[in-house]
Amino acid sequence: GRGADLAGRRLVVSAGGTREAIDPVRFIGNRSSGLQGYALARTAVARGAEVTLVAANVSLPDPAGATVVRVESALELREAVLAALEGADAIVMAAAVADFRPAAPHDSKIKKTSAGPEPVHLVENPDILAELGERRREGLKPYPRVIVGFAAETDDVLANGRAKLARKGCDLLVVNQVGAGLAFGTPDNAAVVLGADGERAEVPRGPKEDLADVVWDLVAERLA
Ligand code: C5P
Repeated sequence: GRGADLAGRRLVVSAGGTREAIDPVRFIGNRSSGLQGYALARTAVARGAEVTLVAANVSLPDPAGATVVRVESALELREAVLAALEGADAIVMAAAVADFRPAAPHDSKIKKTSAGPEPVHLVENPDILAELGERRREGLKPYPRVIVGFAAETDDVLANGRAKLARKGCDLLVVNQVGAGLAFGTPDNAAVVLGADGERAEVPRGPKEDLADVVWDLVAERLA
């Protein structure tokens, strides 16, 4: 076991998937269940850390011992993450954040008319992970000492993962191969964790807690 090797560490985890409002009843969302982020929060608490879990639209019970902040959209998630980062040592961005949001969500429910459907215009959301890397480069507080991202790739997993790690300026990137009954909504995961320092840790298919523990091992090394 890892004992209480994260005692005294303040860790932030984002989990779930954002929802971007089209009107009061409709949204653009994604298939993230939040299971991996919740496993990260649970394992960190078990290892003695103080954990803030920023949960976007997750229908799972709160992990015991973690502070849970519930959000809906990417902009709300960004605000919650920045607030949680005050005094935090590390962040793992496991949430699936929408790249785009409707430019002007309707105040009332869009009606079906004979004129046919209206297009939904989209604008880009901030890339929160990339922003954290930039804040750290610029010394703009709050920023965490260790920054971890997630990436789901379907092909060229390693090449795309390396490129994304560099682009996002994070220390570690957990690259999931999606498909084949893995990742979204399943209890199991398989991944390769890439590091800006050349790290490459293969995590074979297993419970999401196993991958979470490997991530925290790598974070703990970098905080030491
Ligand atoms: O670019 P991509 O969406 O594949 O990157 C995934 C990683 O970036 C995840 O860690 C996710 O939480 C983070 N992300 C973010 N803000 C966005 C999009 C993704 O922080 N707007």
